[in-house]
Amino acid sequence: MPARIIGTGSCFPEKTVSNRELENLVETTDEWIRSRTGIETRHICVGETTTSLAVEASKNAMENAGIEAKDIDLIIVGTVSGDMCFPSTACQIQDALCAVNATAFDINAACAGFLFGLTIADNYMKSGMARTALIVGAETLSKMMDWNDRNTCVLFGDGAGAAVVRMDKEGLNSIVQGSDGVRGRALICQNRPVNNPFIKNGTELDYTHMDGQSVYKFAVKTVPEAITEALCRAETEADGIKYFVLHQANIRIIEAVAKKMKQPIEKFPTNLRKCGNISAGSVPALLDLINRQGKLNRGDKIVLAGFGAGLTWGAAVLTW
Ligand code: UT7
Repeated sequence: MPARIIGTGSCFPEKTVSNRELENLVETTDEWIRSRTGIETRHICVGETTTSLAVEASKNAMENAGIEAKDIDLIIVGTVSGDMCFPSTACQIQDALCAVNATAFDINAACAGFLFGLTIADNYMKSGMARTALIVGAETLSKMMDWNDRNTCVLFGDGAGAAVVRMDKEGLNSIVQGSDGVRGRALICQNRPVNNPFIKNGTELDYTHMDGQSVYKFAVKTVPEAITEALCRAETEADGIKYFVLHQANIRIIEAVAKKMKQPIEKFPTNLRKCGNISAGSVPALLDLINRQGKLNRGDKIVLAGFGAGLTWGAAVLTW
C-alpha cells in the first residue's frame, strides 16, 4: 500500500532579513533581487539550529496528523546543513521527540531531499518495513553562504518543513526521481577538507558556489519533463491537478514550468517571496502553508517537484 500525507508542519527562524538590508552587505538592489528571483525577504537563524527548526516543524506535523511520537517507525530528514556530521539530524529529532520506535537517518539530495525522502518512505511502506513515517526537509543555509557573494547570499534562507505519511489505500500515485552528477559542479559547497597533520598546506573551508544560469536551464528543462513522466505513470492529466507544489528557487522558474505545462500560474502556490530558497525545506513548508490555508481537500490530486544540487530532481503525483 502506498504512503499518504496525513499531516504537515513548518518552522522558520524569528529573524527576517529584507532585500534592502542586503543592500548594505553586497552590491545589490531590492529591485534586482525582486525582479530576477521574486524574493523580498528571508528568515535567518540567530539562535535556532537546523535541528531545532526540524523538531518544531515535526511537532506541528504530528499535531496536524493527530499522531503520537511512539507511532512513528521511520524518520527521514533531507538536509545539506545538519548541525553535526554525526549523529544525523534525524537521530537528533528522534531524541527530541522520544520517537523510540523509529529508524532514523538523513539523506543528502539537496533541494530534492523531501521528494527523495517520500520515495524512500513509500518503498518502506510498500515492502512492509514501515507504517507511519516522518519526512522532514530542514536547512540552515545561512551558515553555508559567503556573505560577500551577491550571486548566492541573496537567494537562500533558513527554514524547515515536515510531513507525516502513513500507509493507506490511496496516496502517492507515482514518483519520478533522477540525478546527474556529471553536471554536479554547477552548485557546490565544500565540506570539511582533508586537513590532517600530515599535510603541509591545509585548504580553507569554502562556501556555496552556483553557476546560476546552468542550474536555471537544468530546472526549466528537467522539471516539466519529470512532472510529465510522473503524470503519465499516474495516468493523470495536468488539467486534473489542483496544485503544483514546486521547489521555491526562483519565481521565473515556476512561471516557465507553468508555461511549459500549459497550466495557469494560479495552480502554482509560492512562498519564496517571504522565505527565499530553503532547499529541502521548501516543498514541505509550502505544502504546509496551503494545507493550513484550507486549500486542500481529501481526494485532490497534487504534484510535488524538487530540484537542485547533485544535480538531483524528483516529481510526484499524489492524492490528498
Ligand atoms: O535550489 C537550487 C536550485 N537553484 C536554482 O534553481 C537557481 C537557478 N538560477 C537562478 O535562479 C538565476 O540564474 C539567478 C537568480 C541565480 C541569477 O539570475 P540570472 O538572471 O541568471 O542572472 P545572471 O547570473 O545572468 O546575472 C546577470 C547579472 C550579472 O551581471 P553582468 O555580468 O551582466 O554585469 C551578475 O553579476 O546580474 C549580476 N548579479 C547581480 N546583480 C545585483 C548577480 N547577482 C546579483 C545581485 N544583485 N544579487
